[in-house]
Amino acid sequence: MNRSMQEWVDYFRWNGSVAMRVPWHIGPDLSDTERAAIAHSIQVFQLGENSEGRHLMCYAKEWAERTGDAAYPEAIRMLIVEEQRHAGVLARFMEINGIARIKRGCTDGIFRRARNLLGSLEISISVLVTAEIIAKIYYPALSEATASTVLQTICEQIHREEIGHVEFQTEQLARIREGRPAPGMWATRFLHRLLFYPTLMVVGLSHRMVLRRGDLSFWHFFARCHQEFVRDLAAMEPQSIPQLSRRRASETSATAIRANSLKSRVDSHWL
Ligand SMILES: [Fe+2]
Ligand SMILES: [Fe+2]
Repeated sequence: MNRSMQEWVDYFRWNGSVAMRVPWHIGPDLSDTERAAIAHSIQVFQLGENSEGRHLMCYAKEWAERTGDAAYPEAIRMLIVEEQRHAGVLARFMEINGIARIKRGCTDGIFRRARNLLGSLEISISVLVTAEIIAKIYYPALSEATASTVLQTICEQIHREEIGHVEFQTEQLARIREGRPAPGMWATRFLHRLLFYPTLMVVGLSHRMVLRRGDLSFWHFFARCHQEFVRDLAAMEPQSIPQLSRRRASETSATAIRANSLKSRVDSHWL
């Protein structure tokens, strides 16, 4: 489903109003074995969710000025708020269960630098959506990895919201790529694959303990993420948005009409 940017703003607003009802009253509900198995993994994901999104906000404002899409910065602001909420609930869960927060991580540092590479909106959200596609498979596995009701509720909510984020980001990437010639699109897809698969290998290997407890072998995890990526990569194509396809079709026919009229003017000149 393709939403207008204002519809995305309305969606984020609505989603924020039906905030997570996490059963915090249960208190610490991780066993020692569970804590040992998931601690490092959850620390890394909590850090990854935590971003002020200052660069992203700047790119979003530039996009709005260039295209007149005034609702986009607000949608991005609300997306960042949602990510910070993810970081917040994970941090609270970790604190209750005696898991320390980390301030720096190797993959997180690479991701943050990559997002601001060349300082463009497209690169920034391509990197973000890469992590979000993987998160769609990771959080259900994390949920299965323990018997914690609190963690399962958190994972369910984050998983649902990441599905929305991926949809939002892929639609925006399709808009950004509108009008890009075929060789450019081929290079774009190639570069995104180049980013996605090594990232997936690193995440799959470094979080394999959680995945295994969540009943996902590394290869199952890899296959599921690959499946999601193939579908989401297709959603990043401009023709996946009917409005863009229709506009392109009408532009093509307008060009054909202009070409025909020019041809008939030239023909009449020579007759
Ligand atoms: Fe998130
Ligand atoms: Fe997200």
